Amino acid sequence: MRRVDPVEPMSVDAGFARRPLSVGPLDTRPSGRVSSCALPRHAETLGGHTARQLLRLCETAGLSGPDSAAYARTLLTLLGPMGERPLDLPAPDDSFVADDHTPVEFSLAFTSDAAPTLRVVLEPGCGAPDLASNGRTGLEAVRDMARRWGIDTGRLDQLEDLFFPPDPRGPLALWCALEMVPGGVPRVKVYLNPAASGQERSAETVREALRRLGHRQAFAALPEGDRHLFFALDLGDWNEPRAKVYLAHHDMSAEEAANLSRVDGGPGPAEIASFFRTMAGHDPDGAESAAGRDPRLDLRPVQSCHSFTETATGRPSGFTLYIPVRDYARHDGEALDRALAVLGRYGMDPTPLLRSLSAVTARRLRDGVGLVAYVGLAHQEGRPTRVTTYISSEAYEVRPPAIRGVPSPRSRP
Ligand code: TRP
Repeated sequence: MRRVDPVEPMSVDAGFARRPLSVGPLDTRPSGRVSSCALPRHAETLGGHTARQLLRLCETAGLSGPDSAAYARTLLTLLGPMGERPLDLPAPDDSFVADDHTPVEFSLAFTSDAAPTLRVVLEPGCGAPDLASNGRTGLEAVRDMARRWGIDTGRLDQLEDLFFPPDPRGPLALWCALEMVPGGVPRVKVYLNPAASGQERSAETVREALRRLGHRQAFAALPEGDRHLFFALDLGDWNEPRAKVYLAHHDMSAEEAANLSRVDGGPGPAEIASFFRTMAGHDPDGAESAAGRDPRLDLRPVQSCHSFTETATGRPSGFTLYIPVRDYARHDGEALDRALAVLGRYGMDPTPLLRSLSAVTARRLRDGVGLVAYVGLAHQEGRPTRVTTYISSEAYEVRPPAIRGVPSPRSRP
């Protein structure tokens, strides 16, 4: 059961009706250096804080002033009334988007041949009194956005009864992600909860969702995992819209992760193991594993994602491995060094990552851990390898650094 915040009871369904957005002084000039701590904390709001972070990130990603302003407005629209919540009140509910319950997380997707793409994931229904209305608010927000830009939500509509039962369970109902491409109209993804009808039904829910989308053989192609975490859909104008299945893998070692991919081509087992070891801070040569002491990630699970684009073969066309680096590093300086090592290995320019971290926070990297939440290694058939870095807003809390390599107790899921 999610915590219901007694501070601010509200009807989210009614509250989401568009109100004029007031978030304090938003400087949307292209060259405006907008400080994330421009306002005293008591005057700051969740929307103001995250929209300012987004503007600065857009600037570092090379988006134009009008595009950046459009994306900041979209973020505020999706956050709805929660955007106006003062930051000195506790987080609106126990959002699973980020460890400190900020319902927003940023990310950069790097390739070696182009500037990285800036993305944001957020929970439009955060602050709703229960998970059912959280889901309704989320659906309504996505459909409003889709209407505005002529995006087809047919694939989502087909799955509504599976992921939005009357009495849903689990850590989320709906998240929405935006890829902030030039032009001011984002590419949209939605994340749904396979355990909405109970953890014990999640495999069946995923199988049925895939089947309805025409991927009849897809479920059988997936590797084993401990838990289905998300079912995600690309909506609208994508070259090849994907359906994606995320699995959690507890206590996994590099060697085991090396064999998770069910995609032909892409990074081979040795490359995946090396990515894993670098991000986990293990011996990059795998000497520990050769000595029979292959370390396992036992604090927070590794995640895999398989994506399906065509229905003819039943085979996935994409694979991503996500390492929750924040639980296996003492502080963000260490997490960043590992991300930089991986970017360097793939010939990707690290400058946008460095700039993005200073765009979201003024704190020193060694003074906390969790700013870099995950790093992913992604392969999609026919496309260059991508490295994805997930950047926390830390609107509510900075996790203190771990002492002498012992992760802090709060890092346990
Ligand atoms: N906060 C959740 C977690 O840590 C979900 C999540 C947020 C996530 N961003 C992610 C999962 C990036 C995988 C990759 O698991």
